[in-house]
Amino acid sequence: MKVLIAYLSYSGNTEEVAEYIEEKLTSEGMQVDTHEIGLDLVPDVSAYDYIFLGTFTWEKGATPDEVKDFVLDVGYKPEHVAVFGSGDTQFGGDDLFCKAAEKLAVFYESQWEPLKIEQSPRGSQESMVEDWLEGVMRDVYVTA
Ligand SMILES: Cc1cc2nc3c(=O)[nH]c(=O)nc-3n(C[C@H](O)[C@H](O)[C@H](O)COP(=O)(O)O)c2cc1C
Repeated sequence: MKVLIAYLSYSGNTEEVAEYIEEKLTSEGMQVDTHEIGLDLVPDVSAYDYIFLGTFTWEKGATPDEVKDFVLDVGYKPEHVAVFGSGDTQFGGDDLFCKAAEKLAVFYESQWEPLKIEQSPRGSQESMVEDWLEGVMRDVYVTA
């Protein structure tokens, strides 16, 4: 099972979620590659069974340009994309909270609800990451 974690993070919150997911998947014996959107060369996404795509949300619910470019570079909709996001309810409340992650999940017709984390996942939200990941992995093992 090959897994790609691709994410964009400016101030580290989304990166923390990505690292947490990587730790968990690696401990389950999965082969995990990580891709920092906007920094690394875009990988051949078709080489992966599952893609975890992470983004923060920008001005008024916007998806960051780097993530849009990544989506265009990938150029097709892989079958199994699980989306995670970091956001802040101070910027527009529940309506705009992690809107970019929501939009990506819809775009990729993801079978999983996007994970939405308020700022950093460390502390009380770690269990949210774990629960969400458990749900995704349950489906992964059923499909395998
Ligand atoms: C100018 C600006 C606009 C933002 N707009 C939103 C928003 O509309 N919705 C949201 O959920 N978070 C919004 N945020 C919060 C960021 O998405 C949040 O801080 C996120 O954790 C940053 O992720 P990063 O640390 O991976 O860069 C905004 C932050 C900034 C600085």
